[in-house]
Amino acid sequence: MRTDVTLRPLDPDLLDALLRTAVADADPREVMPPVPGSTGWTAGAREAFLRFHRSRSLSAEPVEATFAVLVGPEVAGAARLCPAAAPAGPAAASGRTVEAGRTAEAGVWIGRGHRGAGVGGAVLRQLLDRARADGFEAVLISTRPDNTPVHRLITALGVALVHGPDAVTARVDLTPGRPA
Ligand SMILES: CC(C)(COP(=O)(O)OP(=O)(O)OC[C@H]1O[C@@H](n2cnc3c(N)ncnc32)[C@H](O)[C@@H]1OP(=O)(O)O)[C@@H](O)C(=O)NCCC(=O)NCCS
Repeated sequence: MRTDVTLRPLDPDLLDALLRTAVADADPREVMPPVPGSTGWTAGAREAFLRFHRSRSLSAEPVEATFAVLVGPEVAGAARLCPAAAPAGPAAASGRTVEAGRTAEAGVWIGRGHRGAGVGGAVLRQLLDRARADGFEAVLISTRPDNTPVHRLITALGVALVHGPDAVTARVDLTPGRPA
């Protein structure tokens, strides 16, 4: 397990560093919702990235917690935990019930230069620990059917994948006695 990987709550300085990492080392589609009519890191895409994080994590009433992923001193990606509001999306796809406030959706991206070296696995473990410490009882993960790295991260936790036509989902149980 990587010991040089840490999660640090996003702040304005880290957001600037995160944008630099995203532009240098990731595709916009990997790190934020699609920007209509835009391909690549246009000025509009950069602004959308900043707006996305400022509105969701750095506002007076944040809707999710975002963390910069540090590998040593370097900002290498981001991870997030978003309280699930209703039984929709991944929960509906997996046929499970989400209890609002007790379940979080998780997301993570790592810059290309750090992928495939165990960073994602270390981030997911730390994210689950934070979710548990914050009182969540479960974490939902949803990804594309072809995202093998995420599938492997989930199965390494001993958690089953639920295969849908457009997404693969998983529910990580955080209640005591569970392996994750
Ligand atoms: C998904 C992601 C976060 C994984 O991070 P990572 O640091 O590469 O993950 P790890 O190095 O810990 O590898 C995780 C597993 O995937 C495997 N893996 C990594 N890259 C792979 C590839 N290109 N093809 C197949 N398997 C791969 C690893 O071998 C490992 O499996 P193992 O433990 O069974 O050997 C990273 O690939 C990424 O940021 N992708 C783009 C954004 C994204 O898809 N985010 C997820 C949205 S839910």
